[in-house]
Amino acid sequence: MSLTIDHATIKKFDIVGPRYTSYPTAPQWSADFNEKNYIAKLKSFAKTDKSLSLYIHIPFCQSMCTYCGCNVIIRPQKDKYGDEYVDYLCREIDLLTQHIGMDRVIKQFHWGGGTPTYLNTDQITTLFDKVKQSFTIADDAEIAIEIDPRTIDFPKVDLLKKLGFNRISMGVQDFDQEVQKEINRMQSFELVKEFYDYCRKLDFDSVNFDLIYGLPEQTQESFHATVERVVALKPDRIALYSFAYVPWLKKHQKKIDVDHLPSVDDKLDIFIQSREKLLAEGYAAIAMDHFALKEDEMARAFQANKLYRNFMGYTVKPADEFIGIGLTSIGFLENSFIQNTKFINDYYKAIDEGRLPVERGLQLSEDDIIRQWVISSLMCHFEVDKNAFFERFAVPFNEYFEDERKHLENCVKNNLIEENNDIIKVCDLGKLFVRNICMGFDIYLRNKKTEQRYSKTI
Ligand SMILES: C[S@@+](CC[C@H](N)C(=O)[O-])C[C@H]1O[C@@H](n2cnc3c(N)ncnc32)[C@H](O)[C@@H]1O
Ligand code: SF4
Repeated sequence: MSLTIDHATIKKFDIVGPRYTSYPTAPQWSADFNEKNYIAKLKSFAKTDKSLSLYIHIPFCQSMCTYCGCNVIIRPQKDKYGDEYVDYLCREIDLLTQHIGMDRVIKQFHWGGGTPTYLNTDQITTLFDKVKQSFTIADDAEIAIEIDPRTIDFPKVDLLKKLGFNRISMGVQDFDQEVQKEINRMQSFELVKEFYDYCRKLDFDSVNFDLIYGLPEQTQESFHATVERVVALKPDRIALYSFAYVPWLKKHQKKIDVDHLPSVDDKLDIFIQSREKLLAEGYAAIAMDHFALKEDEMARAFQANKLYRNFMGYTVKPADEFIGIGLTSIGFLENSFIQNTKFINDYYKAIDEGRLPVERGLQLSEDDIIRQWVISSLMCHFEVDKNAFFERFAVPFNEYFEDERKHLENCVKNNLIEENNDIIKVCDLGKLFVRNICMGFDIYLRNKKTEQRYSKTI
């Protein structure tokens, strides 16, 4: 039976906090970690036989959706922008392979943005071929791309299939025309259906839709209609994101008229109603904002507590290490986070000078590694095995986390977890609000330095 949730429960647990796609979270990374540190990490990685997850960021979009919280650069669809950027990406790959060699195995390969399908077919082919020449893509690798239905055509989808992409994620957001006007994103149901059907015909392993609730002009009725149309198509996975309204970080969100946003209560109702509809239609809820058809491997991995998590969210195909290529991309190598610069001129300049375009990073301390292990175990497996913790770190869990005792007792009292001497098990309610449990293990939050930078879950 699925969990029933109501306003009071959500209000109680829906606090401002990080999403833990990384620990320590990005505000803790600094420019003290530089290219020299990154090269040292690459060289030490080169001596291992660890596998890789590779992420490539394509920042360009043709127009700005007013809600957007991603790292984007708006450019008209002209070949010269993509040509130039792809050339620099290829040169960044050359700089990397100088240190790690040309034969690293990629288990997970993800193109994100911005809009990867902003690139034309020649650019996509050039970039894919460059990766194939420089790395070994595993036969069973998960190869995913984010597509904006407004920027594709059939030959582009044919090409993605031919190259070996097996997972498609489509930006849908909302089908309502009034909402679409407000968010500057006109995209008809017919357009989405046309490309969705085509992806099905080409037999991609999985198709995901991104939806956002809490957008301007949205009502329970209007979003219900959107969800009805979505479930009629039956994508394998659905990301149901809460609109992150952060105008202090994303200035273009100021274009949104706050009076047109649904009230907090309406937003909650939209979420609850959509969640119930998706559950009733055969989707399993995976943590807060992800849904997958019960037969999908992500839903099965969730049931078996065998999910993994990285910057891209949950995955069933974990690799040992993570390298990011392109503007703002993030990597995790040999216990260090690495992030590339967010300014395109700095990015091009670094590569022209033969430098890796690192902007900031963090070498994890022993305490960071311990807490990262616990948070990752909570987020992905929904449990912490205290004996496994002892085997890994040679210190008893209860002793190391003496200061967290009160937090754990609170979590037990609120039905978020069950705990005994061997194990912490996350309850169904805790799976929904797992980040609340994690926040108690986040030493940086305790110093309250970073709290105001985050948005709420809902
Ligand atoms: C890089 S975009 C997907 C690809 C493509 N750019 C598109 O929009 O179709 C990633 C997803 O992030 C989500 N997103 C963007 N801004 C958001 C925000 N402020 N709050 C919640 N979700 C957001 C959207 O659902 C979007 O589809
Ligand atoms: S939502 Fe997608 S298409 Fe819209 S601006 Fe953001 S990245 Fe670009």
